[in-house]
Formats: sequence, structure tokens, C-alpha cells
Amino acid sequence: MPAPRVRRPRRFLTCEPRYFDVRYAINPWMREDTPVDTALALDQWHSLVRAYRDHGHTVETVAPLPDLPDMVFAANAAVVLGGRVLGSRFAAPQRQPESAAYELWFKNAGFDVHEPQAVCEGEGDLVPVGPYLLAGTGFRTAPAAHAEAQEFFGVPVVGLRLADPLFYHLDTALFALDDGQDDPGAANVAYYPAAFTPGSRAVLERLFPDAVLATEEDAMAFGLNSVSDGRHVFIAAQAHGLAERLARRGYVPVPLDLSELRKAGGGIKCCTQEIRP
Ligand code: ARG
Repeated sequence: MPAPRVRRPRRFLTCEPRYFDVRYAINPWMREDTPVDTALALDQWHSLVRAYRDHGHTVETVAPLPDLPDMVFAANAAVVLGGRVLGSRFAAPQRQPESAAYELWFKNAGFDVHEPQAVCEGEGDLVPVGPYLLAGTGFRTAPAAHAEAQEFFGVPVVGLRLADPLFYHLDTALFALDDGQDDPGAANVAYYPAAFTPGSRAVLERLFPDAVLATEEDAMAFGLNSVSDGRHVFIAAQAHGLAERLARRGYVPVPLDLSELRKAGGGIKCCTQEIRP
């Protein structure tokens, strides 16, 4: 029997998909002018927010702006660690105005925001786990932003190279099962090995020998785009295999359907920015 897993309450920042749409294609999941059911996207998003609140987490929201159809993907707007905010600089011009909108929210909430010089897509590519900040590159966030993040947070950055355009952000290929805040030795991740180059895969094996490995099926179902509170794992309902493996490790999967948002290449984690005190 695995040890009982302990949940830590989180503070999340989200953005309602009121203007969600697929009008441009900046990743392989997106098809220009795909019909989108905004009401369904809203329903699915509300069920995510409800699930967080039902599990004792705090959820705040940024007001969505028309003409920013991807603004629902709050994870890309920043990384917050130790109450310090590293803002974003998007690769795609269509998303660039999102940075200022989120920055304003953080300023109004009493945070200073450090603006990165290089392309930096927030928690999409920067994932704090244990003593490290895991940092993806290859499609979006630039290696120069990894160096900026290390300098800003004073946390060792571990660069990881993504190899498959379907998994263009680190958070589509890996998530922190246990972020190690309470017990650094417990830090652990789940990931899809084939999304990484051989060298980066070897780094993950070395750092996390006990990681949960996902199959292609789990990854295609956006199962790695999950949020764990240390006990509950908010996970795509379609990622059955991964949910089962997590349950065997003592985690409690909370399956949620965000299929409408997947038309833009996003899922649960993409919709969730964590504000770490
Ligand atoms: N359409 C968005 C983009 O391609 C999706 C972002 C998903 N966010 C994430 N954290 N993976 O930029």
C-alpha cells in the first residue's frame, strides 16, 4: 500500500473562456476556423473551477478580453515562486497582448512583475519541482529565458529539450505530481518520455527515478497537462491508463473533460496559473 498522499491548498489564477475561439493555428492541435462551441468551453471550464473549489483550493480570475481567444490559458502568462512573478513574452504575435493584461492583474493584486527579455511562456515551459525549476525549450520558451529565470528566482534551472511538436510546451509532456514544497525528497513528476530528446530523457531519469511514465495514449489525451495538489490529480477524463497508474501510487484522480479547449491545444494545466506564496 502506498503512503497516504497529502494535499496542500493552492491559490490558482484562471481566465474565463468567454472569448475562446480557434482563429489562428500556432500548434499542431489547432486548425484555423475550427468551429468552437464557446458555451461548451465555458461549461467545461466552470466544472474545472468548481472541482478546484470543492477540493479546498482558492481560484481567482482575470477578466477575459475580446480578440484574445487563447487568454483562457493562464499558465502561459507567468511563473510565480516565493511570491515573485516572472511575467511572459509570447512567441506568437497573436498572444503577445496577453502579457500586459495579466501583468496588470498581478500589479493590482500587489505583486511586482519582472518582464523577461527572451521568449518565455510562463508555466507552460517552467515547472517548479523540488529544488529545481524544470525548463522546457524547443518550440516556445527560449534557452535565454531559462537563464533569466534562474537569475531572477535564484533556483537552479534544469533545461529540457522538447522533441515533438504535438507536445510543444513542457506542461503538455510533464507535470509535478508532488512539488516537494513540504518534503523536498518527495518531489516527483509524471512525464511522456518520447516528448523529450534522448539527453533530456536521461536527465529526467536521473532526477526522478521513481517518476510515473505516461504512454502515447495518455499524452495524446492531454493526461500530462494535469494539476496535482499532492493528493488529488485533476486530469483529463480521457487519460484512463494514466489515472489508473496514479491511483495505484496512492493519488486520487479527479477526471475532468476539457475537450473543447483541446481544439486550441490546451487542457487543465494550461488553464491554471499557480500563485506560490
Ligand atoms: N493555443 C495556445 C498556444 O498554442 C495553447 C496554449 C496551451 N497552454 C499551455 N500551457 N500548454 O499557445
